[in-house]
Amino acid sequence: PLETPINICFIGAGYVGGTSSAVMAYKCPENMVKVTVCDISHEKINAWNSDKLPIYEPGLEDIVKKQRGKNLFFTTDLNSSIDASDIIFISVGTPTKKKGFGAGQAADLKYVECAARKIAQISKNSKIIVEKSTVPCRTAEHIRTILDSNKLSHKQTLSPKNHSKNNNNISNSINKSNNFNYYYYNSELNIKNEDFNVNNFNINYHNDNINNINNNDDYNNSMDSSSISNNDSTLTDIDSCSESNTFYQGQEQELNKSIFDDLLEIKLKKNRNIENEKSSCHFEILSNPEFLSEGTAINDLLYPDRVLIGGLQTKEGIKAQNLLYQLYSYWIPKEKIITMSLWSSELSKLAANALLAQRISSINALSALCEEVGADIQEVSYACGLDTRIGSKFLNASIGFGGSCFKKDILNLVYLCNVFKLPEVADYWMQVIKMNEYRKTKFIKNILNRLFNTLSGKSITVFGFSFKKNTKDTRESAAITIVMALLQENAIIKIYDPKVTKEQIYYDIKENSDPQEFNENISNTIICDSAYDAAHKSDAIIICTEWDEFTTLNYQNIYNNMNKPAFIFDGRLILNHNKLKKIGFIVEAIGKKI
Ligand code: NAD
Ligand code: UGA
Repeated sequence: PLETPINICFIGAGYVGGTSSAVMAYKCPENMVKVTVCDISHEKINAWNSDKLPIYEPGLEDIVKKQRGKNLFFTTDLNSSIDASDIIFISVGTPTKKKGFGAGQAADLKYVECAARKIAQISKNSKIIVEKSTVPCRTAEHIRTILDSNKLSHKQTLSPKNHSKNNNNISNSINKSNNFNYYYYNSELNIKNEDFNVNNFNINYHNDNINNINNNDDYNNSMDSSSISNNDSTLTDIDSCSESNTFYQGQEQELNKSIFDDLLEIKLKKNRNIENEKSSCHFEILSNPEFLSEGTAINDLLYPDRVLIGGLQTKEGIKAQNLLYQLYSYWIPKEKIITMSLWSSELSKLAANALLAQRISSINALSALCEEVGADIQEVSYACGLDTRIGSKFLNASIGFGGSCFKKDILNLVYLCNVFKLPEVADYWMQVIKMNEYRKTKFIKNILNRLFNTLSGKSITVFGFSFKKNTKDTRESAAITIVMALLQENAIIKIYDPKVTKEQIYYDIKENSDPQEFNENISNTIICDSAYDAAHKSDAIIICTEWDEFTTLNYQNIYNNMNKPAFIFDGRLILNHNKLKKIGFIVEAIGKKI
């Protein structure tokens, strides 16, 4: 157990930040561990603070309701949260890069970098920084470089000429008055807040809200050249200044606003020698990847197979690993908390996802063969899984894996292999993704083929839109690929999913449509409130997500109300195929001949 109370900050209140922070707050003593989760999205934070949480996970709501306001807080105030924290978990997204070098493969680390710069900018004391996000190998090194080279230094000057405008960057200046010049720029990544320097840089407050600090003699003490001077008496109201200037929306706005907050804080610190305080800041970086799965996140977090803590094998590194170890040991058996080197820990996360996805692609490759030779993939999977070396989990054939991570993490691995000139290794892992695409295409072709090679004017029902059951997440869902392909064939699509919202489905269709086809695609898609509505007067049902609800429907009723012949395509192998055949359905399923 911990010896002294600690403050923990999560940067990023998404699936990982939101769920893992809640479980940490729930499992650690309230008087010892305070957890604050911050995000730049006001909408998300408002939702975390409301009755309607931004994500659906079984068990999550109870935990959040129990801890919120006690030792679990959700806020957009990154500055205070970072400032007050001892340990910071970076749990922001690491999507695949969309443009530039490595586009389509490399991880886009702009959010991680942004978080690191923010930490450097705000921190006045030493902290442990934990990589919770999935990152490429050696990212910890980059984070360290950013942190160490961006610690706020008050020796440097903020003169406009020192802040040359980079041609490739958008530069903005805020000139409130002659003696309040603050320059910032956004790079291509929108994240580069250069060191800001404060010599010849006079900030003067006359705002009553700041306790009339100009009248305070202490405050007017002249500072040395390394500090802020208040000798110039021209007054600038920092509040109105920050409001009256035009900022970029969203993230950059938050970042830049925080610089004002920081300035304010510096002023209020008066004679304290912040520079010395800052330069003694030590950031120890740990890797602590997350292995939760959506839909079972709370259970995975409460009872993980293992917790990895990667760190440098230095005195400080080991000390930091120990602190995290103590934190986790409040609820995780000690033998499941593993410490290792930073680079092994970072790579283990990519490796674990690659191996899991490879298992699905392997069984899906075999499912394609089963369909041709008359074998049954469920029997083959069962037979293989009984071998304890293979094991029975994660061998369910499907229409292909989805989710925000498998594809992006394998692409990231492929990119790393190519960077390190290992093309054979890169090709090996790339095949996992190719097989996943092939599985979806083969399923779609079979639907088209069985429906007499034309879907024009036919009504097709899609059961399930999320990438797996028990989540409303649709990122990379195989259902999207299938729906888009059917829309291309001019089918009318009727979708029912127990959790995914209408807005999300329309959003996904929009994102995947050519602009000129978008309106037609939307008008050919009907989102239904029940499975029965969706199947009414339809020609075929496609099971895209394995929601339990689909196994208990009254298929006789459904059949009675469908056009004939009535087809069912089971892309998840969850239905009783013999029973359906007896009712009169023509049944098609992944990996078997019915
Ligand atoms: P997410 O998109 O749900 O959440 C990320 C959040 O970070 C967003 O709310 C975003 O607004 C916020 N954010 C971005 N930049 C920020 C900044 N500078 N300051 C504050 N907030 C900021 O992502 P996620 O699914 O939680 O994934 C996060 C990471 O965890 C990824 O690297 C992912 O690969 C990894 N991971 C995800 C899962 C999963 O099941 N989703 C599981 C294990 C690991
Ligand atoms: C996956 C991993 O399982 C987690 O350990 C990891 O932390 C996470 O990615 C991540 O890094 O984001 P997740 O994507 O949430 O978790 O869900 P999974 O249960 O792995 O399912 C992924 C996809 O594979 C789903 O579409 C699912 O339906 C499919 N799947 C899974 C199969 O087709 N067959 C299976 O046997 C298992």
